[in-house]
Amino acid sequence: MAIIMDGKALAKKIRQELKIECDELKKKGINPKLAVIMVGDNPASKVYVRNKSRACNEVGIEYTEYLLKGNTTQEELESLIENLNKDKKVNGILLQSPLPEHLDINKAFKEIAYLKDVDGFTPVSVGKLCIGDDTFVSCTPLGIIRMIEEYNIDISGKNVVILGRSNIVGRPLIQCCLRKNATVTVCHSRTKDIKEHTKMADILISAIGKSKFVTSDMVKDGAVIIDVGINRDENGKLAGDVDFENVERKASYITPVPGGVGPMTIAMLMNNVIKATKEQEMLK
Ligand code: GUN
Repeated sequence: MAIIMDGKALAKKIRQELKIECDELKKKGINPKLAVIMVGDNPASKVYVRNKSRACNEVGIEYTEYLLKGNTTQEELESLIENLNKDKKVNGILLQSPLPEHLDINKAFKEIAYLKDVDGFTPVSVGKLCIGDDTFVSCTPLGIIRMIEEYNIDISGKNVVILGRSNIVGRPLIQCCLRKNATVTVCHSRTKDIKEHTKMADILISAIGKSKFVTSDMVKDGAVIIDVGINRDENGKLAGDVDFENVERKASYITPVPGGVGPMTIAMLMNNVIKATKEQEMLK
């Protein structure tokens, strides 16, 4: 039976540590603040945004939400980002994805000032990550690496197989794992034989969004399994990408859904807001 990696408990510990840092900043008159922009009313985004606001509240980070109508234009969205870039009280800007189809999310991300890019999605942050500079790193990959480190799992020289190549998880995760000297394979919708790759994985990270996609026959004995998926199964129950009951028997470590990667993502967002605040202060 695998060790279940408790992302919920670890995220709580990280939030407590960040609260201490946040209190220290406040004593110096510095009040970290996050601005979140959401366009339209995607139900999943509403849940994410609510969880982010709760975490801010717990850590002591000021939080403002901009809920824009579904018919907002690209110009209106970018004009709001521009105003938030200029607003000295705002330390972090988060544009919740997805956006309605008529909007170009990559174009909007480009408008976010690098020093306020707490999601690590701007081209500057992504470029810095690729060349190994210190930067803002996308919160889910950052949370996964932190969790792996916390459980003393060595990535160096290991075969890491990532399922999914999204800009939010898969792609930045490749860079995070390379930085830790892993041998990285990425599988996606055009990969010919996914199982051929997953069976070689010492660490298998699934971020494709399909319930029970990863079955026990795809997994090597003793592998570490990280499940990024947040799906609804056939009974409407929250489920990851991994067939947990069966894969757990073969794995050495496994993350649950819920309570694994999800809370870590939000804790890393809090981490990035504090980092942004400190870096902006240093430039004053
Ligand atoms: N949508 C799903 N996950 C994320 C995230 O981590 N950041 C943003 N901005 N949008 C998301």
